[in-house]
Amino acid sequence: MIICINGEFLADDKAKVSAFDRGFLYGDGVFETLHSYEGKVFEWSGHWRRLESSAQFIELKLDHSSEEIHGWVQELLQKNDLLRKEAAVRIEVTRGVSTLDYAAEPDRPTWVVFVKPVDRVEIETWQKGIRCGSVEASWLSPQLSHHKTINYLPTVMVSRIAKKNGWFEAFFVDDPGYVLEGARSNIFIVEKGTLKTPPLRGAVLAGITRQTVLQLAREAGIPVEETMIHRDQLFKADEVFMTSSIVEIAPILEFDGRKTGDSSHPAISSLQRAFRRRIQTI
Ligand SMILES: Cc1ncc(COP(=O)(O)O)c(C=O)c1O
Repeated sequence: MIICINGEFLADDKAKVSAFDRGFLYGDGVFETLHSYEGKVFEWSGHWRRLESSAQFIELKLDHSSEEIHGWVQELLQKNDLLRKEAAVRIEVTRGVSTLDYAAEPDRPTWVVFVKPVDRVEIETWQKGIRCGSVEASWLSPQLSHHKTINYLPTVMVSRIAKKNGWFEAFFVDDPGYVLEGARSNIFIVEKGTLKTPPLRGAVLAGITRQTVLQLAREAGIPVEETMIHRDQLFKADEVFMTSSIVEIAPILEFDGRKTGDSSHPAISSLQRAFRRRIQTI
């Protein structure tokens, strides 16, 4: 596997960052995970804008342009023989290398970009339906949740809870019982023909797939509401699903051990088809 560090293309056993990198020391950085289909990255501009906005939030000045990084990604896909396949692309930028001063301003950020094949058969299995469950929203930081920082310990911890419970994904539920988002996904329900998803004013990341699904629904004439969703609604809704760049759209058939939605999920199937058509247009 070839990895790109600061524009240098290296074999993974030679690709190293400093032990004093602030990404390693403090989780001081931002990242994006993207999905590439036969060499074409889905929603590059949306992901780039979110990387810029996350970087701005942590006062990290990006020293490479969208065009340069897109070029690195293309070169990585080519060098790793992924131009004809599907791949996950990870772009990570840390504040760089510093001493033990929390507020240090290193000379330049550290960029690490890598690609990894993704298995369509596995994705299609998830797209048939998954089991999920809830974790406490107190894991979330209201400040950080709107940005994609590499400070991911809450995600790591709740993903461990999910794994122990046999869930594909853990969803953050707050004290009054509202579902905010998943550890690495957004949530939607279909209720009496209306597509609903929690608004971004809560501790919710502006998912790129969330945005695409909202757009596809509006184009299909499906009424859309960005509104709080209570956990109890999951068991009464017609359909429940999650979205993320890698998984795309996956129906949630069970939540905290209880059946959710309708297993034939016609609205989800039609959104999945529209999503596939959107991918063809990249
Ligand atoms: C916390 C969180 N919410 C939502 C998402 C989904 O975002 P996207 O659709 O851009 O992949 C992610 C993706 O990793 C995430 O980490």
